[in-house]
Amino acid sequence: MEISYVDLFCGMGSFHYSLSRLPGFRCVAACDLNEVARSVYEENYGVAPLGDICDIDPEELPPFDLVCAGFPCQPFSQAGHGRGFDDERGTMFSQVMRVALGGRRKPGLIVLENVRGLLRHNDGKSFETVCDTLGEAGYSVVYKVLTCSAFGIPQMRKRLFVVAYLPTAVKPGIGQFFDLASYETTTTLTEFLGRGVFEKPTAYTIRCGGRLSAITDRHNWDGYIVDGREYRLTVEDCLRLQGFETYTFGTASTSQRWKMLGNTIPTIFTRIIGEQLLRFIRKNSLQ
Ligand SMILES: C[S@@+](CC[C@H](N)C(=O)[O-])C[C@H]1O[C@@H](n2cnc3c(N)ncnc32)[C@H](O)[C@@H]1O
Repeated sequence: MEISYVDLFCGMGSFHYSLSRLPGFRCVAACDLNEVARSVYEENYGVAPLGDICDIDPEELPPFDLVCAGFPCQPFSQAGHGRGFDDERGTMFSQVMRVALGGRRKPGLIVLENVRGLLRHNDGKSFETVCDTLGEAGYSVVYKVLTCSAFGIPQMRKRLFVVAYLPTAVKPGIGQFFDLASYETTTTLTEFLGRGVFEKPTAYTIRCGGRLSAITDRHNWDGYIVDGREYRLTVEDCLRLQGFETYTFGTASTSQRWKMLGNTIPTIFTRIIGEQLLRFIRKNSLQ
């Protein structure tokens, strides 16, 4: 069984990290606008990503069964002024669909990742656009907000996952796609990081900006009281809190490392998605 996939907006490659640890998945192409992210990705996974998604000719890609796309979330996050699909970055979803549908065969599965704010943005109209566009292309859609701290990683991060499937590719039954009971477990920062006793049980969401804000500042996410003293999360702590047990940043600068860490998807989420995809593909005797 082989499930070939493309990793769009690949960043640190959370999808690649998790899918390469599961049987059957093979990455045939990736893309990211950021040159440093591309070179770090290649160093970790041996696949050289393409650049701007807008420049991709999907007919030139090898055929793929699965599209993974954590498209840029700024238009929908609280930090992004809520401009949604009016913002140029909102059109990144259109680019995902252009690549997905313009290839040599129609992929049976599309997985989208974004901030949960997408659900209620513009009175729900942005998410409706996503679902309608997928529906018009013949896909059925299931979605769920996953919370890191519910799955044994003490970080508050929540992310929306949308799984779209062609009824011809994955037979009905996928309605129960998110069977999460076996993943549910909790831990604390103290237990998880082994750096001393944290006053807080769970880390704030790791973000791109706001680092080194005062602990009392509402933008603070990296400062904690540990054993009665101020402690700042390190790059290594954040790698663990995003679920990357092995990873190399190569020559990426410190600020580039922080940016990539703030952008990425906890690998517990992409592992869950990968395992659930496998479960359903097997259950429905698709391969
Ligand atoms: C939310 S991050 C994705 C994180 C990634 N999925 C991961 O696992 O780390 C969005 C990524 O989209 C990239 N990006 C933004 N605009 C792009 C474009 N036009 N084409 C390709 N990549 C783009 C950014 O450089 C950034 O790495």
